[in-house]
Amino acid sequence: MRKKITIIGAGNVGASTAQLIAKEGIADVVLFDIAEGIPQGKALDIAEACPLWGSAACIKGTNSYSDTKNSDIVVITAGFPRKPNMSRDDLLHANAGVVKAASAAIAKTSPKAIIIVVTNPMDAMAQLAWKTTGFSDKRVMGMGGILDAARFRTFLAWELNVSPEDIETMLLGGHGDQMVPMPRFTTVKGIPVSELMKKKTINALIQRTRSGGAEIVSLLKSGSAYYAPAAATFQMIKSILHDEKRLLPSAAYLNGEYGVKDLYVGVPVVLGKEGVEEIVEIKLTREEKAMFRESCAAVRKLVKKLAI
Ligand code: APR
Repeated sequence: MRKKITIIGAGNVGASTAQLIAKEGIADVVLFDIAEGIPQGKALDIAEACPLWGSAACIKGTNSYSDTKNSDIVVITAGFPRKPNMSRDDLLHANAGVVKAASAAIAKTSPKAIIIVVTNPMDAMAQLAWKTTGFSDKRVMGMGGILDAARFRTFLAWELNVSPEDIETMLLGGHGDQMVPMPRFTTVKGIPVSELMKKKTINALIQRTRSGGAEIVSLLKSGSAYYAPAAATFQMIKSILHDEKRLLPSAAYLNGEYGVKDLYVGVPVVLGKEGVEEIVEIKLTREEKAMFRESCAAVRKLVKKLAI
């Protein structure tokens, strides 16, 4: 039997993620939104593309949580995207209401699901989803690090004129502005990037990555990025669904790891059929530690505002 994936929020990120799943035919998809007609219309459009993609996936759009029943994976993208000059944190209270409602519904209808939170500010929203569902922390995670890493890989590839696929990197901390880059663990087909590029150039690309989301928001004028966020979410889904055990940066619940207690924040994890199967701890330099601590403090501040 094909697995069932529910996407909450049939907006740009949600529909793009649904499209990737349906195109690959790796699971059936339920697209849920509170807006009437939108999930149904987008699901119908995607279903009509399936014959052309050679995919037998079933996709259904709905406004009813009963259709999402017993999903294996649920992706939360519902909420409001950023407008120019807004930070992800500005979305906190508006999106907390949406994520809380969605999480409560999922806990009832899909008690065994693995949840991937995409809605921003993602790290705090992942913590909220975990608290609200009461699920094991293994089964609740947030998408952010893969996207930040993909942005960094893109800029490095352009600078070096090599395929972005050959660039590997790891990063930690909160998603976006708060990310902690790891140039030390950035390689071009195994060659440390520091061998190929000046520190100044690396730092400029890190800066562009940090504000990578804002760069797109300011170009789009309304709405925020969705192609790369959907692709990043899809990579997490695939690793879980196929038990690939990919080692990827993801927001996960820390309870002592990296010296952090009771907080969702980005770290390297192994993603498999159980969800977050392992948190990989790497030894940080003093400078990295300081940046990570700062990043965690920023996320914790948001979580405190939510009073969860
Ligand atoms: N339940 C379900 N869906 C909801 C709810 C809710 N309570 N509230 C809003 N939505 C839906 C909206 O109707 C809309 O279709 O969420 C969708 C959001 O879609 P977009 O506005 O296109 O936003 P998108 O670009 O997809 O971003 C969604 O992901 O990357 C983050 O920062 C981004 O927080 C934002 C989220």
